[in-house]
Amino acid sequence: EVWNPNGKYRVVSTKPMPGTRWIRLLTDQDCRVEICTQRKTILSVDDILALIGDKCDGVIGQLTEDWGEVLFSGLSRAGGRAFSNMAVGYNNVDVNAATKYGVAVGNTPGVLTETTAELAASLSLSASRRIVEADEFMRAGLYDGWLPHLFVGNLLKGQTVGVIGAGRIGSAYARMMVEGFKMNLIYYDLYQATRLEKFVTAYGEFLKASGEAPVTWRRASTMEEVLREADVISLHPVLDKTTYHLVNKERLSMMKKEAILVNCSRGPVIDEAALVEHLKENPMFRVGLDVFEEPYMKPGLADMKNAIVVPHIASASKWTREGMATLAALNVLGKIKGYPVWSDPNR
Ligand code: DGY
Repeated sequence: EVWNPNGKYRVVSTKPMPGTRWIRLLTDQDCRVEICTQRKTILSVDDILALIGDKCDGVIGQLTEDWGEVLFSGLSRAGGRAFSNMAVGYNNVDVNAATKYGVAVGNTPGVLTETTAELAASLSLSASRRIVEADEFMRAGLYDGWLPHLFVGNLLKGQTVGVIGAGRIGSAYARMMVEGFKMNLIYYDLYQATRLEKFVTAYGEFLKASGEAPVTWRRASTMEEVLREADVISLHPVLDKTTYHLVNKERLSMMKKEAILVNCSRGPVIDEAALVEHLKENPMFRVGLDVFEEPYMKPGLADMKNAIVVPHIASASKWTREGMATLAALNVLGKIKGYPVWSDPNR
């Protein structure tokens, strides 16, 4: 699909993206926009090289693509100096290779913070109240009247929520769980989570002033503390060499037998094979997963009644996805036109 065929700068998007604002933004600034409409979900490096062709000023790519040496050297040969991932995460991008070939890299933080946190909260609630199992039960025609013990789950109020990785999304999730459900908080991050700390401190004051029951909160000095103490644990680290299989067999065994584990970050943060085993051995342990050791989910997970699995949709609200597309376009346009790149992970 081609927009503004006579535009001076050639910008390629490896996928159709939501909305049209991002397209207008580029075409209004003399860009010819080419959108790949191949039905294949994951494009290979060769597919993308073919899209880049001989002349390309910038590319908007997706988290499913392998943006390393080959693609950045190809883009550079075609005269391209700009690349943006349509994602906040950029574990699929070799930023050093991009720098080596003179290509600026952008990502799309900010617009997906609340949307992603909302999905993590939804998975936490769904797991604790067994919503998916209960829905399946209804649809199977098994309901024949109210019973005192039917799908009894947990009350979040008064339980402890554990957050691993208290950046933008982890902090937004923590706020939702503390303020929305009156959960106590324990979190772990390598860095100071200043905004989260300000929030919990002020919220504590508010509860005191209004005479409501207090919530407790604490920054853990090790991740293991969070795993041992929390009833609901949500993972929000970036994926890199240090967080690959962060949650492994040993760490799973530290968690409470009835804990809930939520992951809306990146799949490989959890050792999925170890998780399947853990779910089998601990039927009261539950997970809510948005991400997998992609591209596909490992066999076994889908058979587990104590797992809720959704297809990497944490940022999938209309507003957010259109915002991500717009930011990605702005990143590429910025570099082409010499404006500041909106979001540069190297900043
Ligand atoms: C991201 O942005 O990194 C998400 O995984 C997709 O929204």
